[in-house]
Amino acid sequence: MPVIRFVREGRDVECYPGENLREVALREGIELYGLKGKLGNCGGCGQCITCFVDVVPAGSAVALSPRTGVEERKLIRRPQTWRLACQALVEHSVLVVTRPQAGEAGLAPLLAGALARPLPPGPTAWPEPPAAEADSSPDENEPGATREVAGSDIASATSD
Ligand code: FES
Repeated sequence: MPVIRFVREGRDVECYPGENLREVALREGIELYGLKGKLGNCGGCGQCITCFVDVVPAGSAVALSPRTGVEERKLIRRPQTWRLACQALVEHSVLVVTRPQAGEAGLAPLLAGALARPLPPGPTAWPEPPAAEADSSPDENEPGATREVAGSDIASATSD
């Protein structure tokens, strides 16, 4: 699986190819937002411009999906390596700096350490489900078979 190396936090996080960068960061407890974003953000709609990340090194932006039209408009005065996490899908392993607008104080040694360790490239497709799992699912049309409906097991076929 691709690895997102969050430089500022010193953490490597695995995700599936095509996962949304913002959603992975939030799921893993990575702080994406500065003060403005903490006070209020758009929830991932690409409107508040508070979920900046910097993709490093320059040129590795191909690890993410291409910039969306929203990003092209919203990031017009920002460096080309900046992305909106809510608009970016992770295709390959990547290094990102969260909250690049916060400045680079103390970032140089973290960045040097992050760049010194190789990243696995990661696959470009979701893994296949295990064969045993696919074969073991019960046939819903068999008498006595059950299926889960709204959290409860209900007999799908009875012979009354
Ligand atoms: S969360 Fe608002 S632009 Fe990304």
